[in-house]
Amino acid sequence: MKALVITRFGGPEVLELQQVPDAHPAPEQLLVKVEAGGLNFADLLTARGGYAGTPKPPLTAGREFAGREDSGGRRVMGYTQWAAFAEKTVVHRNLAWPVPENWTAEQAAAFPVNFFTAYFAYWKAGLLEKASGARVLIHAVAGGVGTAAVQIGKILGIEMYGTSSSEDKLARVGELGLQHGINYKQRDYVQAIKDLTSGEGVDAVFEMLGGEHVGKSVRCVRDFGRVIVYGSATGEIPQLDTRLLYAKGASVHGLWLSYLSANRPLMESAWKQLSEWLAAGKLLPVIGKVFPLEQAREAYTLMQEGKNYGKIVLKIA
Ligand SMILES: NC(=O)c1ccc[n+]([C@@H]2O[C@H](COP(=O)([O-])OP(=O)(O)OC[C@H]3O[C@@H](n4cnc5c(N)ncnc54)[C@H](OP(=O)(O)O)[C@@H]3O)[C@@H](O)[C@H]2O)c1
Repeated sequence: MKALVITRFGGPEVLELQQVPDAHPAPEQLLVKVEAGGLNFADLLTARGGYAGTPKPPLTAGREFAGREDSGGRRVMGYTQWAAFAEKTVVHRNLAWPVPENWTAEQAAAFPVNFFTAYFAYWKAGLLEKASGARVLIHAVAGGVGTAAVQIGKILGIEMYGTSSSEDKLARVGELGLQHGINYKQRDYVQAIKDLTSGEGVDAVFEMLGGEHVGKSVRCVRDFGRVIVYGSATGEIPQLDTRLLYAKGASVHGLWLSYLSANRPLMESAWKQLSEWLAAGKLLPVIGKVFPLEQAREAYTLMQEGKNYGKIVLKIA
């Protein structure tokens, strides 16, 4: 079968379309004919060899997809660790969910990682219940996880603040429901949060930049606020002087979907809520651009340059 192979660790240039042996499911797995793949920041890190647990190359890329079950033809969207960007893939039965009616494969491939991650960020922030009126700062608000977090925050009645490098991206997320866009190229977001909240700060920050941004995000929270750390897109080691936490009784919480996805009760409770919102038509993945699998290098480059809006999707069949 045709697959996108990481031939050695490096940038988008290491990706090659190759013929590889067919995927074969273990008893707890489904075999899926893949139609589309969702590109994640983690795919860049995987290709570079910087994602925890990545096997040695050559390996097939991709962690998120939509397609049809090989036996029966049920439409599913799924989450795996590697090997999703291929004509066929295997996925644990617990990590494949039915595609909402009328959704395209591209939309379905853009759902699992972004929406489960955003859901768990609100869960870790303690904001799934009684959230109305709470304030959240979402970094990279115009990205895949960011646009999912805005949709969930809107349902929860949250006052949302979000950062991006681009006015154009902020205007588009504004249409999704983001109330306060902050262009960090033009103004310091710590000061902006201070100004916009009359000096009070936010209840939670969704932090995925790393480097100095962990400490800066702690400065944005109000008393007992929480910073949810779930990435380091700058590539810089997260920095935090923990003394900053004392003053406000603030806390920092880690979030890693790869780890949580093995926790079945937790995933089931998340899906119960997400599927209710889906059935009510309240969630819809935001797709910025679709590339054919043959142009995967361009897709990875777009994400590497931080120029994407919403989700980048690869069309596979
Ligand atoms: N822990 C988990 O389980 C988990 C799950 C999913 C994602 N994540 C993390 O969440 C973050 C977002 O992931 P995503 O897939 O949704 O990507 P994304 O947000 O769609 O794309 C990354 C965005 O980050 C911003 N950015 C800021 N500094 C950047 C830099 N130095 N290089 C590249 N982009 C930069 C850019 O937006 P602006 O220009 O608008 O700032 C860019 O569009 C990543 O750090 C990812 O690793 C973690």
